[in-house]
Amino acid sequence: MRFPKTGEALNEVLADLTQAHMVVHQHHWYMLGHRFIKIHFYLDHVMDELAEQQDDVAERLIEINGSPISTFEEVLEKTNIPDRKGDWELSMDEHLQIILDAYKQLKADYEKAIKISADEGDDSTNDMLIGFHTDIEKRIWILAAELGQRPGDGE
Ligand SMILES: [Fe+2]
Repeated sequence: MRFPKTGEALNEVLADLTQAHMVVHQHHWYMLGHRFIKIHFYLDHVMDELAEQQDDVAERLIEINGSPISTFEEVLEKTNIPDRKGDWELSMDEHLQIILDAYKQLKADYEKAIKISADEGDDSTNDMLIGFHTDIEKRIWILAAELGQRPGDGE
């Protein structure tokens, strides 16, 4: 592989993007109550963003001669984002907080991968990752604001 450490970092990002997509899917199915109509459909856009990043990260990995993870087993082995069974008892804010926490993990993943790709001199991957990191930070701001928090609260 042209940039082995970057490749490994991309697979870690890929695992968390895949897991985050499932987590958002679950919470947009299980949420109930006030704000449902707005938030449920907003989360469809969130999933589109995750799916787009997932595909681009995997394809960039192939372009540097790597092999993207592509099974649930591999995702479970690598992901840093926890999951739990669907729960109808969670409040709307609890659902959103879980999604926000997943996004904060993605932000950390991207920051790690950005540094690794810069160190290895993989400028194109670095450029792609910086753009995605910016998208993730914007999403963190929006989700945090919906919860009455500022993006760095609790850190
Ligand atoms: Fe949906």
